[in-house]
Amino acid sequence: MTVEFHGKVALVTGAGSGIGAATALRFAGLGAQVVVADLDVAAAGRTVAAIEAAGGTAAAFGVDVRFADQVEAMVRFVVERFGRLDVAHNNAGVDAPHRPLADVSEEEWDLTTGVDLKGVWLCMRAEIPEMIRVGGGAIVNTSSAAGLIGVTGAAPYCAAKHGVIGLTKVAALDYARQGVRVNAVCPGLIATPLVTAVLGDAVQQFVDTRIPMGRIGQPIDVADAVTWLCSDDAGFITGVALTMDGGGLAGL
Ligand SMILES: NC(=O)c1ccc[n+]([C@@H]2O[C@H](COP(=O)([O-])OP(=O)(O)OC[C@H]3O[C@@H](n4cnc5c(N)ncnc54)[C@H](O)[C@@H]3O)[C@@H](O)[C@H]2O)c1
Repeated sequence: MTVEFHGKVALVTGAGSGIGAATALRFAGLGAQVVVADLDVAAAGRTVAAIEAAGGTAAAFGVDVRFADQVEAMVRFVVERFGRLDVAHNNAGVDAPHRPLADVSEEEWDLTTGVDLKGVWLCMRAEIPEMIRVGGGAIVNTSSAAGLIGVTGAAPYCAAKHGVIGLTKVAALDYARQGVRVNAVCPGLIATPLVTAVLGDAVQQFVDTRIPMGRIGQPIDVADAVTWLCSDDAGFITGVALTMDGGGLAGL
């Protein structure tokens, strides 16, 4: 069997940039019709243009995943536009500036956990009934290496990303008998605008000291894992949190 999505419809959030854009392009390249959802609708449009330029089919949708009405409208749009929903990558995420826990503002906490954790729950809540309606589906949620270990100064982000793994396991259990598989990916350091914003000049030092493979990850490294987890080749896999970090969490 090979990884392919002909006749299937994929939804990717945070698909205007970075990991989400790479996953949307990958799904389209593997035959799926793709809804490219992002807070930044212009960025989503650029991903759609890249998919169409490569011969694929996609549509953009502007959404703030913190809000239930917008998330429900997004899933309605998917079904109205392409007739069904088979696979979803709940990936939209933000990080706050890193600072000690007692210095984190309520606004930073609410924004980070609102997008990274509540947003994932809202997306699954809207997506799962549509997947059950077509006989099953597969979801991948973006957690992080910061969902598995603590990161100094990243209280809201770590709390949210640990929470995503818990949510993923519960969803996997709740819907295992209805044919919906739910997994998480835990990327390490991946070359995207989010990393540049948070780490700045410290990226190379992190690569040299913390990544055994000696290179930063690329968005396609995550996209390949996400599309595989959503494919029939991963048909008996549900409730896992799969790390792709160049060996960083393998040990000291
Ligand atoms: N880059 C890394 O090293 C890394 C590592 C681990 C996990 N992650 C996770 O991967 C995911 C993607 O991050 P990325 O590195 O590609 O970052 P990115 O900044 O390139 O992309 C994130 C996208 O999410 C969108 N977004 C932000 N808030 C949103 C909202 N409220 N509603 C809808 N869309 C919203 C942004 O507009 C942006 O297009 C995030 O969940 C991030 O936490 C990234």
